[in-house]
Amino acid sequence: MDGIPSVTVLISGRGSNLINLFNRARGYRIGAVVSNKRDAAGVAWARERAIPVTIVEREEYPSLSAFKDGVRDAVSATQPDLVALAGFMVVLPPTFIAAFQGRLVNIHPSLLPKFPGLDTHQRVIASGETQHGCTVHYVDAGVDTGAIIAQASLAVAPNDNPESLAERTLALEHELYPWVIGHLAGSEISLCNARVQYSSRVRQEAKERGFRLSNDSE
Ligand code: GRF
Repeated sequence: MDGIPSVTVLISGRGSNLINLFNRARGYRIGAVVSNKRDAAGVAWARERAIPVTIVEREEYPSLSAFKDGVRDAVSATQPDLVALAGFMVVLPPTFIAAFQGRLVNIHPSLLPKFPGLDTHQRVIASGETQHGCTVHYVDAGVDTGAIIAQASLAVAPNDNPESLAERTLALEHELYPWVIGHLAGSEISLCNARVQYSSRVRQEAKERGFRLSNDSE
């Protein structure tokens, strides 16, 4: 990576993670935003800050696969060092994942591999879980299945409801995501033969912040 690594953030909605990544950027910069929703709140926010925004909407393409190729091409055109999914509600095709392997990450509101997919807070309450949290992971061809980079967790309280859990989990996301992106940008976290590698500094910081890394159990 030459200069300050540039991150392209993909969004579909309100963009609180995008805003937080921007506000807490250390060792990286938000170079571009790509959205599949023209009216996403995060799009308006990015435009106000003169961050280049590309809109790629499904309706503009004759097929789903052409649309997904369009997303890939739009992201490639931003020449990112890293690609961060932040509430991007499109499952990316293998060609996209191959193009950005080791540089493409997502944040998910559960302690993966538990609760991939949608409505995680509701499902956590319904299952009587005592722990919940968020995960940053590399993206592979599955839905929320790629190699786990780091997790932040919280205790589910007896009086929690999906809304209270969502709020507390989002606050954790806002701690975890910029920390991970900063270390990916500094090559202190990397992917090697499908395993996540961490520098000793990252391990130390994770311990101090209470973040769990994927090889913690070893
Ligand atoms: C977050 O909960 C994130 O974990 C999930 O989608 C939500 C996006 O929220 N992937 P925001 O648009 O960043 O506020």
